[in-house]
Amino acid sequence: MRIELLVQNIGELATLAGPPEPRAGKAQGDVEAVNDAAIAIAEGRFVLAGEEKDVLESDHDFEGVEVIDAGGMAAVPGFVDPHTHLVYGGDRQAEYVERLSGVPYVEILKRGGGINETVRKTREASSDELLESVLKRANELLRNGTTTVEIKSGYGLDVETELKMLEVAERIGEESPVDVVTTFLGAHTIPVEYKGRRDEYVKLLLEEMLEKARPHADFCDVFVEEGAFSVQEAERILGRAKELDYGIKVHADQINPSGGSELAARFGAISADHLDNITDVEMLQLAEVGTIGVLLPGATLFLKSSSYPPARKMIETGVPLALATDHNPGSSPMYSQVLMMGLSCLLFGLTPSEALVAATINAAHAIGSDQIVGSIEPGKNADLVVLDRPSFGYLPYELGRTPVSMVLKGGKVVYRRET
Ligand code: NIG
Ligand code: FE
Repeated sequence: MRIELLVQNIGELATLAGPPEPRAGKAQGDVEAVNDAAIAIAEGRFVLAGEEKDVLESDHDFEGVEVIDAGGMAAVPGFVDPHTHLVYGGDRQAEYVERLSGVPYVEILKRGGGINETVRKTREASSDELLESVLKRANELLRNGTTTVEIKSGYGLDVETELKMLEVAERIGEESPVDVVTTFLGAHTIPVEYKGRRDEYVKLLLEEMLEKARPHADFCDVFVEEGAFSVQEAERILGRAKELDYGIKVHADQINPSGGSELAARFGAISADHLDNITDVEMLQLAEVGTIGVLLPGATLFLKSSSYPPARKMIETGVPLALATDHNPGSSPMYSQVLMMGLSCLLFGLTPSEALVAATINAAHAIGSDQIVGSIEPGKNADLVVLDRPSFGYLPYELGRTPVSMVLKGGKVVYRRET
């Protein structure tokens, strides 16, 4: 195999290479850093990564190969963002002001605003309009080092618009350098036109939407919360999703202890997300099944949540943790996994190493992409972030600054910061 690209003079390389299972407990913080490192890439994949002298002394021929000089700075795998709602029309800036004045999120949702407001705007927007706005958002993700993103539907809440959203998400995967994994979230809330007839909307999900969305989505998610879906409704929806062979995800215990995490464990979910109000018993249940806890510190902060996910306790209990932006217009209009790492350290007590694992390899596990992304290992996609700081420890440290100087996707430079 001919090496096509050599990234050398890496002061500190965190490969995140390791055992195949999600990192939990003490292993949550396992980050081995190699100093004076280099990476060899061919055909869009990593071939070798390690100490520069070992890479250069390997059997490969580096004659005439393209070289990127990392200038002694650090490099980490491309970030994986395993929970976003990136496709939507309009925004909720006005609602933000209202919430700041004290009106609760769930109250706005219950009176037909919030998610419902974004549903109206998303239904109105054409596919092309959505695509144009989402491409810009995908570009923001890239600039922040994210190279793989999960995108949910859930602002259509009718057959046509849910499919439109999923198709736009798929097109983002084709037209932007970012890789996309899709999730069907038709059970995001009861649409206003079904007010007083929630059973009929659940029936529509069960009898039509889940099946029609399946060719366009790998996972099915349900928002289990007051103002959204009850555990009983979610059981029926996830039961049908299992029959259709969807992977299972749950928006669980976000605003109230909703029982969502117990449900996620019972359905063998790949992830349970939010968890600001998870109970001790539920932690044990997630740990036993191996369900990944996806923490969304952007939403916790933006909704001024009074309860934080008990991250340290979850780590002690053995729940593997991942981080995500939850990018959406209502509860987290944020793009940066670097910022999530910073917030998770300050608000939830993660260490920088634990946060890096959570934003890379565990995040890849949370969307079933751990075989192809999330770490720098031979055969995986050559998705790489080069920093302008000498250690990955600076990622969560300089809160609000993104120390990303270059991003490679599949071995190609897709972003380079102008100095
Ligand atoms: O993950 N919790 C439910 N869904 C989103 C919020 C969506 C919205 O407010 O538009 C979330 O926080
Ligand atoms: Fe969400």
